[in-house]
Formats: sequence, structure tokens, C-alpha cells
Amino acid sequence: MLNRQVVLKRHPQGIPLPEDFDLVECSIAQPSEGQMLVRNLFFSLEAAIRGWLDGKANYFEPIPLGGAIRGPSVARVVESHLAGFEAGDLIFGLHHWEDYSLSDANTVLLSKLSPEPDIPLSYYSGGLGGSGHTAYVGLHEIGKIKMGETVLISAAAGATGSMATQIAKLRGCNVVGIVGSDEKAELVTKTLGADAALNYKTCGDLATAISQARPEGVDVYFDNVGGTTLNAALACMNTFGRVIGCGMISDYNDQDNPTPIYNMWKLVEKELTMRGFLLYTYMDKVPAASEQLHDWVRAGEITVLENITEGLPNAGWAYSEMMRGATIGKNLVAMDLRADETAPLKMQ
Ligand SMILES: NC(=O)c1ccc[n+]([C@@H]2O[C@H](COP(=O)([O-])OP(=O)(O)OC[C@H]3O[C@@H](n4cnc5c(N)ncnc54)[C@H](OP(=O)(O)O)[C@@H]3O)[C@@H](O)[C@H]2O)c1
Repeated sequence: MLNRQVVLKRHPQGIPLPEDFDLVECSIAQPSEGQMLVRNLFFSLEAAIRGWLDGKANYFEPIPLGGAIRGPSVARVVESHLAGFEAGDLIFGLHHWEDYSLSDANTVLLSKLSPEPDIPLSYYSGGLGGSGHTAYVGLHEIGKIKMGETVLISAAAGATGSMATQIAKLRGCNVVGIVGSDEKAELVTKTLGADAALNYKTCGDLATAISQARPEGVDVYFDNVGGTTLNAALACMNTFGRVIGCGMISDYNDQDNPTPIYNMWKLVEKELTMRGFLLYTYMDKVPAASEQLHDWVRAGEITVLENITEGLPNAGWAYSEMMRGATIGKNLVAMDLRADETAPLKMQ
């Protein structure tokens, strides 16, 4: 039996295209002492992957041409020589876009999953995985949100933004989502419960639109996109406001030409705090976040939005769709499994 891998065929120019990726076959690695062989089940498509495709270090090593694409997955342990893990366990960790991966104690984000029977396994790659945890940690640890505050969230219909929108509402905040289409705006208000949503592509001057939507100003800005949206948000911040630097996706497709940020004086004038974070620095906060998110999902108070693409060969296409802003919710690739590999999943 062979392992299929999605590898980097060429460095993307701008938005990644399906043709930037290739599907190749190779042998399945044998796990040695301290390692386990895992069967990947769901891949979480991450904006951060874009930064590894340009051949430059970007808080992780770049992915070389011909190298397998790195990405977090939910996987099942096939064979384990790692203490604490057994065949059949479900895990999460940073692996590669492939059928089978090797995992060990140094695998980034490695954790054992105990999925609940009534919760889809895919949620552990998104809403109850990194996206939900990022939203929760960002709002609480960095943004220090308080009931009654006004929270502005960009890419509010995306994986992280849709969770952040609902968490901020559940914490009693007034929430404004910024999105790239009217369809997303409707979803953010009607399904996710935001108080207002702005389509940055059609609203005219964004700072004016934010001020009109929330004349009281913004206390916390959860920034997923950077660029011109960050500029506009800075102009609308209240004194002692907090800017949560979660990501700057608007610059990821052209990292050599980042958008200038003109409104930095607002940091002084409004005595703002602007702080970036990476989820993996806050792993000690994840258990509490996970427990709370489970409670909300079980109670039907949070809707987990998913956009699932079937099959490893379609991973490059799915990633292209995500990075051109065409998708809603968490983007996942569900692996095409053989019948004997799906059987244990039915036990979930
Ligand atoms: N700090 C951390 O630990 C951490 C962890 C996970 C993710 N993140 C960050 O969170 C952000 C969102 O990631 P995600 O995985 O949740 O992706 P996502 O929001 O599900 O998908 C990407 C969305 O970004 C928006 N977007 C794309 N290009 C844009 C542009 N040029 N200008 C403005 N918006 C654009 C699009 O929404 P619209 O149509 O609404 O524009 C698109 O649907 C990223 O910046 C990512 O790096 C950070």
C-alpha cells in the first residue's frame, strides 16, 4: 500500500491555485521507537500555510518545492511506539497533507482527543479545535473582553471569526462583523447573532461605516485580516481599547508588499494596547476554552460552520477557494478512506 501526499509544485504567485500543488505517491513510513503511525481523517486548512509556500521562513520553516504541505489534522493512531498512545486513539497534531503521517512527542499541537458521541469528529479540527481555541484565547487573554463592550471582528464569517463572533455575543458584548459579501453579512447577523455586519467591499469608507454602525466606538478589535481593515478599525477605537492581532490574511498572498498601516498614532492618542498572539503559546488555556466551547455547542448556543471538501486530491483546490475568500466557516478536507478505515469511525 502506498501513501499519497499533496506536495508544493511551485511557489504561488498571489492567491494559490490548484496547479501549485501536486499529488504524489510514496511509501508509508515505518514508526520507530518514540513514534506512531497515524491515519489522517480531517485536515484543517489554515491561512498560515500560505506563509510557508513562498520559500521563506515564517515562524515555521518554509515548505520546499516537492515537499509535503504541512497542516493540522485529526488522525487515528494505526501503530504506536509512543508512551501514552495506542492504536485506535484519535489525536490532533500538525502533520502533512497525506494519507499516513508519523507523529511523536514533538509534533506541534499534539493532543489526544476524546470526542463526544453526539459531536461530529470534524468539529475537533475547527470549532472545537484550533479555530475555536484561537477565538476564545484571543478574546479573553489578549482582548480581555468585558460584558457590554463593543467588539469588532474581521473575517467574521470565517473559521476563527465565526467562533469569535458567537463567543463575544455569549459574553454579553455588542458585536460588529466585517465580511466580504452580503451573503456573509446576513449569516453573521442572522445565524451568528452579531448586532451588525459590514461588507467592506461595498460599504464605502470602512471607518465611516464602522462609526455609523457603532457611534459609541470600538473597545476591542479582533483582527484577522490586517491591511486596510486594520487601518479603519484603528480610527474607530475608544480610549484604552485593545487590538487583538490574530492574523493579517489580507497580506498573505503578497507578503513582499504588506499594506502600510497609517493610523498607528491612534495607539498613543487613544492609549490602545495592540498585541499579537499565537495559539500554541497559550496551550495551558486550551482545556478551559475547550470545556466552555463544548458546553456551548452541546447547548446549541454556538453554531459550528463548516465547509468540507471530500478527498485528498482536492486539497489544493479547497485551499485556493479559501485563500480567495470564497468560503464560509471552517475549511476542512475529509480524507477519502477505504471501507476498512471508515468502520471504526462509525463507533463515534
Ligand atoms: N494567531 C493564531 O494562533 C491563529 C490561529 C488560526 C488562525 N489565525 C489567523 O486567523 C485569520 C483567519 O484564519 P481562518 O483560518 O479562520 O480563515 P477563514 O477566516 O476561515 O478564511 C479566510 C477569510 O479571510 C478573508 N480574507 C481573505 N482575503 C482577504 C483580504 N484580502 N482582505 C480581507 N479579508 C480577506 C475572507 O473572508 P471575507 O470574504 O470576509 O473577506 C476569507 O473567507 C488568519 O489571519 C489566520 O492567520 C491565527
